[in-house]
Amino acid sequence: MPVRFRDCLVAMAFALTAIVYPASADDKAAAAVASSDNGKFFDAEGSPTFQIKEDGTVDWYTYSGYRRFNSECNVCHGADGAGSSFAPVLADSLKTMPYGDFIAIVAEGRKNMTGGKENVMPAFGNNKNVYCYLDDIYVYLRARAVGDLPRGRPAKKEDKPEAAKEQETSCMGG
Ligand code: HEC
Repeated sequence: MPVRFRDCLVAMAFALTAIVYPASADDKAAAAVASSDNGKFFDAEGSPTFQIKEDGTVDWYTYSGYRRFNSECNVCHGADGAGSSFAPVLADSLKTMPYGDFIAIVAEGRKNMTGGKENVMPAFGNNKNVYCYLDDIYVYLRARAVGDLPRGRPAKKEDKPEAAKEQETSCMGG
C-alpha cells in the first residue's frame, strides 16, 4: 500500500535525523566559566554555570542551589538529584538539557501519560522559593551532572555576594 510505504519513509527519515543529530551534550568544556558578574558565573553562551575551585570551594549560587533543590525538589527527584522510582535522575537529565528547556519545564511543569501511568512534574512558576532561585538550582544540578560535584552539602562555599542579596530582596518582596 503506497500510503503505508510513505509513512514508513517518514519514520525512517525521523530515525535517521535522530542518529545524525543527537541531542547536544553538556560537558565540562561547555560548562567552563567564560565570564563572571558579582560572583555569578556564565559559560561561553551566556548561560549560568558553576565554579568549583581546586580545594572544592563552590560559588555561592551552586551552594544556594543545593539548599533550594534539597528543600523543594528532592521529595520527588531524590536527594541531590539522584532520582526516585517516579521522577527522573536530574543529575543525568542535565547532561543533555539546555538551560532554556530546564527553565521552561520547571516554570510550566510537564505531564506525561505514557504507559497508563500519570507522571506529573508540577509547575513552579508561581512559587517564589523556586523561581527566585531558578538559576541557583540550575547551576547546582549542572555541577552535579557535568562538574563532578559530589553528593551532599558542599563543604566550602564563597560568601553570599551583595548582588545575590539584592536580587533576593527584590524577587521575594516583589
Ligand atoms: C511532585 C513531584 C515533583 C516535584 C516536587 C518536582 N518534580 Fe520535576 N519532575 C517530576 C516528574 C514525575 C517528572 C517527569 C515528568 C515526565 O515524565 O514528563 C519531572 C521532570 C522534571 C524535569 C525534566 C527531566 C527530564 O529528564 O526530562 C526537570 C528539569 C525537573 N523535573 C525539575 C524539577 C525541579 C528543579 C524541581 C524543584 C523545583 C522539581 N522538578 C520538583 C516530579 C516532580
